[in-house]
Amino acid sequence: METKNIGKIIQVKDSVVLISGLSQVGYNQLVSIQAETGRVPALVLNLQTDQVGAVVLGDSSLIKQGDLVEFLEESLSIDVSEELLGQVVGPLGNSLTGHKLQVVTKGESMFLERVAAGVLARKDVSRPLYTGIIAVDLMIPVGRGQRELIIGDKKTGKTSICIDAIINQKGRDVICIYVAIGQKASKISRIRQLLIDYKAMDYTIIVAANASDPTALQYLAPYSGSAIAEYFAQKGKDVLIIYDDLSKHANAYREISLLLNRPAGREAYPGDIFYLHSRLLERSLQYSDKMGGGSITALPVIETQAGDVSAYIPTNVISITDGQIYLDGDLFNSGQRPAINVGASVSRVGSSAQNKGAKQVAGQLKLDLAQFRELQAFAQFGSDLDADTTEKLRRGELISALLNQTELKPLSISHQIVIFYAAIHGKIKFSALSEIEDWRYQYITFMNDKGKNVLKELEDGKKIENDLEQELIKLIDQFNQTYG
Ligand SMILES: Nc1ncnc2c1ncn2[C@@H]1O[C@H](COP(=O)(O)OP(=O)(O)OP(=O)(O)O)[C@@H](O)[C@H]1O
Ligand SMILES: [Mg+2]
Repeated sequence: METKNIGKIIQVKDSVVLISGLSQVGYNQLVSIQAETGRVPALVLNLQTDQVGAVVLGDSSLIKQGDLVEFLEESLSIDVSEELLGQVVGPLGNSLTGHKLQVVTKGESMFLERVAAGVLARKDVSRPLYTGIIAVDLMIPVGRGQRELIIGDKKTGKTSICIDAIINQKGRDVICIYVAIGQKASKISRIRQLLIDYKAMDYTIIVAANASDPTALQYLAPYSGSAIAEYFAQKGKDVLIIYDDLSKHANAYREISLLLNRPAGREAYPGDIFYLHSRLLERSLQYSDKMGGGSITALPVIETQAGDVSAYIPTNVISITDGQIYLDGDLFNSGQRPAINVGASVSRVGSSAQNKGAKQVAGQLKLDLAQFRELQAFAQFGSDLDADTTEKLRRGELISALLNQTELKPLSISHQIVIFYAAIHGKIKFSALSEIEDWRYQYITFMNDKGKNVLKELEDGKKIENDLEQELIKLIDQFNQTYG
């Protein structure tokens, strides 16, 4: 059957073209516009009875009304290979680090859009993905294959959490993909330099469509990232992918849709934006053993306005992820770093994958924190406090302070456990909070020196009981005798 057909440009509007005569083209398929100066690809995103709308994947100023358009019967794809590691690439695979745009690799061709693997190819999330951020690893744990949303206002530390998580994968055999959507080019160079400085770029790929790039590329960036992630996951690798951020992605899609004259829905977003994001995030998974056991863990980022999580895009993405890490502007301004609102954050699948020791410590930690917040509100009224309450307040303050963590200093799970085991058992022997940095440094140094076996077992996910617990208590007491 002859399926190839030829159409004609009837209108060019910014980065969008309307084409007549392409009766057989499908949604998300490629066409090639024969402009006077050469061919320009475009992606069909709108189907009507007598015309189709497509977004131009190149310079739309070259296109004129009346230009011929050929239906390519191909879907958009990107060439992927290990060569991409360490690179900054555009959504269509162009290297942005070299002198000029060039395709860096002739690898396996991966479709940008693809139906996510079915349930038979998957298994439950069962292994932890450590971010190195104490509040997350202990209280909002993420498992490999999970989708955990990072949500918060402008400048509340969303990107910092993602970068820390990437840096923390060093030596853990996880491929990281950082998808930057609609950000400034200068920000991307800074992130790249940071990752190089922390030796994290070797296992990382940055897919960037900057604010100054065509809207179509910003729209495509997450799919490219996802296609690259799938390449590695299908080879049995564990992948961490970050979409920073999907608010800007939604805006890019809204812009394209309005140019395509599609009806606007809530907050002027096209009605299928929910479907778009759910299809994207559905591609994160833990493959079954038969499929090689690889995984794709996704950390999508959403920016809120004035903490409003009930806006359209935030509610959508909250409902299609397995939990959220909620960053609070007020906490950020009050100096808490990272500014995670633990009460408003949740991880719905991660706890089944959590390290056993971490889980034990986290249970008590959450209780102590909740109790502390209650007492704190009560103590504000300045009434006389009994010794027990004073001690609980002191411990609460200490725990809160211990949860503070500067960026770029991820902590291994075993270090997190030994610190908080001591904290919740009242075994930290100092009173002034200003000593905390010094205590942490000395304590960790001591454990690294004397507690290698304990740290190793905790890192491996052993439960804190019997011999291991006795050994840990002995070490802490030994440290307390020397500290000060
Ligand atoms: N844990 C931390 N310790 C110290 N500083 C931090 C920490 N987390 C974030 N910051 C600082 O806060 C500022 C904002 O962080 P970041 O860029 O990660 O926020 P964001 O929410 O991604 O911002 P944007 O809305 O611009 O994307 C940065 O200057 C960063 O260095
Ligand atoms: Mg950011």
